[in-house]
Amino acid sequence: EGDDEKENGKDWWKEKREQLMEIMEDNGSSYVYDLDTVKRYAGFIQNLDAVSFGLYAMKANANDEILKTFRKLGFGFECVSIGEVEKVFDLFPDIDPKKILFTPNFAPRSEYEKGLELEVNVTLDNIYPLQQWPNLFKGKELFLRIDPGHGGGHHEHVKTGGVQSKFGIPRFELDELKELVEAHEISVKGLHAHIGSGIKDPQSWKDTAVILHKVAEQLGGVDILDLGGGFGIQENENQANLDIEEVDQSLQQFKEAHPNYDLWVEPGRFLVATAGVLLSKVTQLKGKGEMQYVGIETGMNSFIRPALYGARHTIVNLSKLEQPTNQTVNIVGPICESGDKLGIDRLFPNSEEGDVILIANAGAYGKVMSSNYNLREPATEKVIK
Ligand code: LLP
Repeated sequence: EGDDEKENGKDWWKEKREQLMEIMEDNGSSYVYDLDTVKRYAGFIQNLDAVSFGLYAMKANANDEILKTFRKLGFGFECVSIGEVEKVFDLFPDIDPKKILFTPNFAPRSEYEKGLELEVNVTLDNIYPLQQWPNLFKGKELFLRIDPGHGGGHHEHVKTGGVQSKFGIPRFELDELKELVEAHEISVKGLHAHIGSGIKDPQSWKDTAVILHKVAEQLGGVDILDLGGGFGIQENENQANLDIEEVDQSLQQFKEAHPNYDLWVEPGRFLVATAGVLLSKVTQLKGKGEMQYVGIETGMNSFIRPALYGARHTIVNLSKLEQPTNQTVNIVGPICESGDKLGIDRLFPNSEEGDVILIANAGAYGKVMSSNYNLREPATEKVIK
């Protein structure tokens, strides 16, 4: 178990404790990203034998140094807005546009125009654009996002399959889709699916491949199956881990049966979550009846995942790592909402004003979802090697 953790680099922050304490001292509340850990997780994806191309879902963390790291490693970029696409071109003006997959949802017509003009791979996730703006797409090569009919993931908010979800073209529209594709001479370069985020079932991507294959057979001429992201990680040590080798084995079985497809994946969280921590410091303590509150300098304005999804990330008092955890506390921020709790019912040592608090596995959907709610500036970012 211990060796395993070392190998996965989950506890990198224990070894870099002194450096983190200094960053907190100099910069105040900060997200810190460890590039070695980013590279280690990138390696897990690049080692998937069945997968020919990995795209980084940059919505998870759009820090420049992180984007540059993925570029150097040969990853493509999955972008959900023209803003994300333009950011990639700003940083990498010489990038092959076909290394970018633009997968918007309910975007205005103008964003598809821009995507086509920039010659990136454009994905339609609705038949409406083909029905209403056929001239835009006539004769074009496109990706189509299919709704496999079921969602997955760590919370209802992040499930993106099934009729309850606004994403993807449902399979019951396939006949209509096929007619539109033929009428407008679209060549379907790839099929895409993404059923949700934080998935721990290793068979999930193979199941998606099987469904996309059936759709591809009906449409004809499809070369690429993009199986989406959604690869889960451990937010705390009590959670299950995703067995990435089993993901690969199941995909290899699919590949053996269907060797003609190129399989793509587009993880966000898996690649960056473990590499990031959020540092803050204790402001005040409060004992209220049975409840103990440890207040820290930043809250849901920096990290909204606990409030939004009930996410339970490992939280430690970095200043007092060696001391016994002898009390149960809630770790709260300074935001004027009762939901501004970063950790509920946590075993904690006796803490003092000024102690450095670390929230682990916060490299994905942290900074990118932060705001200046209450006109409090969210945590800034630092990258270390
Ligand atoms: N591809 C598409 C089309 C997506 O919509 C997403 C995520 C990804 C890939 C990457 O998913 P990942 O590998 O990171 O799970 N804010 C939520 C997660 C929202 C995910 C949105 N789409 C959270 O903090 O849990």
